[in-house]
Amino acid sequence: MIIDNLKDSAESIRKKLGREQYEYALVLGSGLGDLADEIENPVVIDYHDIPHFPVSTVPGHKGLLVAGKLEGKNVIAMQGRFHFYEGWSMDEVVYPIRVFHLLGVEKLILTNAAGCVNTAWNPGNLMLITDHIKLISESPNRGPNIDELGERFFDMSEAYCLEGRQKVKEAAEDLGIDLKEGVYMMFSGPNFETPAEVRFARLAGADAVGMSTVPEAIAASHMHMKCIGISCMTNMAAGILNQKLNHEEVLETGERVKKSFQKLVKETIRRW
Ligand code: HPA
Repeated sequence: MIIDNLKDSAESIRKKLGREQYEYALVLGSGLGDLADEIENPVVIDYHDIPHFPVSTVPGHKGLLVAGKLEGKNVIAMQGRFHFYEGWSMDEVVYPIRVFHLLGVEKLILTNAAGCVNTAWNPGNLMLITDHIKLISESPNRGPNIDELGERFFDMSEAYCLEGRQKVKEAAEDLGIDLKEGVYMMFSGPNFETPAEVRFARLAGADAVGMSTVPEAIAASHMHMKCIGISCMTNMAAGILNQKLNHEEVLETGERVKKSFQKLVKETIRRW
């Protein structure tokens, strides 16, 4: 039973962290993992050392849980997440999120690198996710419902917590960060989209395309965990500029904006 594995994992982490209550979980996307280095008095747990935990394979992604204080709040950060394109099932992709819930974490901050679909924006812009579109048919909640986590049919009309989003906007304003807001569309990857797919995404109302975040947000809604998402537009999506896409560009832009990205996440944690 998945729930037994989840409880096993939570129990193993709990033993390493002690009795302290953790309020926030932070999922760090491509090139954004450095924020975990700012966590004070960190307890670092290798994914290998957590029973049943998946282990990431992507270059630029580590496989560590880093727990400690950020802005005086107790935070558990994932340095390295699990992507559907790596071959993990949706259950495995959201496995850590469910473990965080069992550990008592109430607020989830999802970050990612994304392709920018909105032609009025630029690489390096940060986007607060207001909503998402899941293009692929798989859901992390397909299969027998885990009743201990949430109900079979659940609402997604505020998948990204309105109050949390307000805090991110206030934080951005105070920091002088030009924060965009928009809709994230998940493609399964690992290929970047075709220009036609990007046009389709724009017609459908998406501002950004990416390969993550949506499963985690769905699992969070199921468990009534408050969730916010921030995307870093690392590149214009395919077909917008006359150039080809590559992972190096994604990492380079991540590197360029990571300081303001980190400031925004920290200021959000301070306020939310
Ligand atoms: N498409 C999908 N995922 C991405 C992109 C992109 O253009 N850039 C960074 N992650």
